[in-house]
Amino acid sequence: MVSAPAPGGARAVARCQALGVAPYSDMAGGLYRGYLTPAYRAAQDTLSGWMAEAGMQVSLDPAANLVGRYEGTDPAAPLLLIGSHLDSVRDGGCYDGPLGVMLGIEAVDALHRAGRRLPFAIEVIAFGDEEGSRFPAAMLTSRAVAGTLPAEALDLVDGEGVALARAGVDVARFRTAARAPGSVMAYLEAHIEQGPLLESEGLAVGTVTGIAAQLRFRVHLAGMAGHAGTTTMPLRRDALAGAAEMIVAIERIAQADASDVVATVGRIAAAPGAANVIAGSVDFTLDVRSGDGARRDRVAHAILSAMEATAGRRGLALSIEQVHDLPASPCDPALVALVDAAMVKAGQPVRRLVSGAGHDAMVMAALCPTAMVFIRCRGGISHNPAEHVEPADAEVALAVMLGFIDQLGASRGLA
Ligand code: GLV
Ligand code: MN
Ligand code: MN
Repeated sequence: MVSAPAPGGARAVARCQALGVAPYSDMAGGLYRGYLTPAYRAAQDTLSGWMAEAGMQVSLDPAANLVGRYEGTDPAAPLLLIGSHLDSVRDGGCYDGPLGVMLGIEAVDALHRAGRRLPFAIEVIAFGDEEGSRFPAAMLTSRAVAGTLPAEALDLVDGEGVALARAGVDVARFRTAARAPGSVMAYLEAHIEQGPLLESEGLAVGTVTGIAAQLRFRVHLAGMAGHAGTTTMPLRRDALAGAAEMIVAIERIAQADASDVVATVGRIAAAPGAANVIAGSVDFTLDVRSGDGARRDRVAHAILSAMEATAGRRGLALSIEQVHDLPASPCDPALVALVDAAMVKAGQPVRRLVSGAGHDAMVMAALCPTAMVFIRCRGGISHNPAEHVEPADAEVALAVMLGFIDQLGASRGLA
């Protein structure tokens, strides 16, 4: 058993904080690190130094994921991939994503300092676009690695009009980041819980059993721009008022399901956007999730029907584009049991939970068995600058990861 040095988890937390400010953020006074932005490249540069110090060979894959490799003793053995994402939401916290990468580096660092090689290689991967905060698609780079990204998904333009093809990656090679089936034995991701359950039960860590299904849409609503002083109320086709009615209906329909279904409009833009002009058009996002894919689809269908009815009644042209459909993704039962066993070995009670948040792990499940460890975050707050993780909890998570790694080879007949 390789034990973590006392400061491993604390160092992972400190490194996330270090990457939470300039030059690793694209916004002043907060953290936004978009895929392929200057902040993203700066974070990769620093990360690559930390990977090298931990004894890894560092490379960039064709999807601009940073990868650190720690060789094993059996070159024929499939490898263990440990990862999470380096991008963030706008004005987000510094742990959502990077903490899983930093803990992966710490796990390898512990092995390296102990002079220990496992039968299999370990690669730590920092994925680039999990959040979809820059381009209108999410989990682009993990989908590339898992081999599930269709070529047409790369035809993307960001909010500033920059095409992915001109953003610093070769789109013709992007999908060659795909790993060969059978080459990855397991994918392990540690991540903050982003919910309040662990904290409410006084637990530092939990075992994830699966991830909720997600749907994401881009909605465009067209009405008629006009003079705010002269167009009487009955004559208006106000796109923003129509959007407001739709957003309230979205909330009502999801609430009325009285289940784990959640529906969110997180971004809206009205044009032309002036105090004295009736909004002629509105664009907004819609995100619908549930642990049960059929339930998610039923509620999403009810929402889209209600939106169509509102648009018809108000004389608005509605177009809805589905940009994202990820099925619910169970973690691998044998690996879940291995995480549980590592929890016990680390002196922790076993607490299993389902993730409502999306993770690269849900995409990686198409390539290999997956496992996730959740780490308590204060108040369950995430996607918010107030995100907070206690170093002691990261220490526990690191011990669990090392326990998992220690037993993985034996569980796969490789020890
Ligand atoms: C990622 O954080 C997501 O769940 O949208
Ligand atoms: Mn996130
Ligand atoms: Mn995340």
